[in-house]
Amino acid sequence: MKKILVIDACVRRGESRTKKLLDRALETLSRQHPDWNFELLTLMDMDLKYWNTESLIQRDELLAMKQYDAPVFALGRQFQQAKGIIIAAPFWDLSIPSVLKVYIENISAEGITFKAEKDGLRGICNGAWMLFLTTRGSLYGGTDMEQGSTYMKAISRFFGIRDFYMAAADGLDAAGTDCAAIMHSALEQVEKLCGQLS
Ligand SMILES: Cc1cc2nc3c(=O)[nH]c(=O)nc-3n(C[C@H](O)[C@H](O)[C@H](O)COP(=O)(O)O)c2cc1C
Repeated sequence: MKKILVIDACVRRGESRTKKLLDRALETLSRQHPDWNFELLTLMDMDLKYWNTESLIQRDELLAMKQYDAPVFALGRQFQQAKGIIIAAPFWDLSIPSVLKVYIENISAEGITFKAEKDGLRGICNGAWMLFLTTRGSLYGGTDMEQGSTYMKAISRFFGIRDFYMAAADGLDAAGTDCAAIMHSALEQVEKLCGQLS
């Protein structure tokens, strides 16, 4: 059974538009691939910790001893093993919410999600693709101020994940916006992209 890791970084709950994109992706993929196994991480329900001076020293000692089975690397091992990754996160402060960055800090480790080689770092994750879903308040899509999806694309490549797909609803909070129409087209985009995932 193909393991797909689903990372929900929607900070708002019921009213989150980004979560609506995620729900549509999961409905579509479950219908298309009844044999896939979706593992859901709701980041807001997890007590994720960023590295501080002490915890970073402890982590680096474990890495130096190659203790990759230590509990502190459990999230990284789970990410490394997944065959596909779905991440939903709203556009915050030109990027992603900190909870997602803290999750990434937790999974990013030499020997877990990437390896150091003579000619540089090489991603070692099993995932063939990452699907990133986002919604934005203003019209930032495709501009150099949009550092959410661009960062996620780079991190995906860094971890060795070959294909990056993104669906976005842009400008949802702009005055006079037809939110329903923007969401409708973003949801269609999600369905279309889901059809390309294997
Ligand atoms: C803390 C915070 C920071 C935000 N920063 C930006 C931003 O930098 N640019 C922007 O266009 N919208 C920004 N927004 C608006 C959100 O991107 C927009 O409302 C998005 O649709 C929220 O997703 P959600 O409905 O899934 O919560 C921000 C919203 C919040 C709450």
